[in-house]
Amino acid sequence: MKFKTIEWKGDRVRILDQRRLPGLVRHIDCNTASSVAKAIREMAIRGAPAIGVAAAMGIALAGQKIRTDRPALFLKEVDKVCRQMGQTRPTAVNLFWAIRRMRSVLGRSAQGIKELRAELIKEALAIYREDIEVNRSIGEKGQNLIKDGAGILTHCNAGALATAGYGTALGVMYAARDQGKRFHVFVDETRPLLQGCRLTAWELVQEKIPATVITDNMAGVLMASGKIDLVIVGADRIARNGDTANKIGTYGLAVLSKWHGIPLYVAAPISTIDFGLDSGTEIPIEERGGDEVTHIGGKRIAPTGIKVFNPAFDVTPHSLIAGIITEKGIIRPPFNKSIIRDVGSKAT
Ligand code: MRU
Repeated sequence: MKFKTIEWKGDRVRILDQRRLPGLVRHIDCNTASSVAKAIREMAIRGAPAIGVAAAMGIALAGQKIRTDRPALFLKEVDKVCRQMGQTRPTAVNLFWAIRRMRSVLGRSAQGIKELRAELIKEALAIYREDIEVNRSIGEKGQNLIKDGAGILTHCNAGALATAGYGTALGVMYAARDQGKRFHVFVDETRPLLQGCRLTAWELVQEKIPATVITDNMAGVLMASGKIDLVIVGADRIARNGDTANKIGTYGLAVLSKWHGIPLYVAAPISTIDFGLDSGTEIPIEERGGDEVTHIGGKRIAPTGIKVFNPAFDVTPHSLIAGIITEKGIIRPPFNKSIIRDVGSKAT
């Protein structure tokens, strides 16, 4: 990749500001855990794995900045930051998974503040590095699904920008490209925040992968015309029965795919599976401000006074999903059996 989504800089966390892409490639240097939390909340960094990594680095940063020689106070302050990170965005479970991993460092007994500081950094960097490795494995396991000459549809951005690097849904495509396959990617623009049009398109142009942007309401026409062979999307949280929360619009796409007999695959790390949830009805769905719908690029496009409904995610029922591509392989239906059988023991 020609860019870094997020970097640990020792005394700060550097984040590529995704709100400005593709027009402006600008980084934000976060010097405090609060500024990392703000970057997650305001979506300067977004995508389930990426916000997990950002939260972990934010917690490690807090560890460096808390000035006390009293271990109990140190632990209390780090705990406060963990809670602050957990309040940034509710749907992507990778965030809570990463916070849990950072908290487990604090639980290791008999450590002084100096050791804890070092351990927090070590854990955050491990989460970062593992994410890139996991994405590469997802790519490797999923690339066989892409046949030479395929037309692929994707939604939102599940690429290097949404992860520590490489990507999940786009990672599968990068791996297929590296195998010498030729294919064409159709990119849903992904209203309201245009992660497809702005971010996925930006990545694919840089990677020189042939791609076409469409507005979200054009997918059906493309499918009916035979141009789409498969759909690959990312995920923010997957319940034990395979129901999958992903960017708003994924559900509609999945219904269309089923109707046209086109397989829809979800590409996600095992850390995106919430083993504590029986079904997708239990997944908390983030609702964001109405401005995201009534405005585009800061310009109002709807009349003042109109009501807005703006859920950031929807849940695709497991019956519409052909398979879940993880770092350990492709999980196939029936998911209520296969998820636990295939990857249940790999969960941390
Ligand atoms: O609101 P966002 O941009 O954070 O939503 C991102 C998505 O829905 C992605 O598809 C998902 O997080 C998977 S990223 C590998």
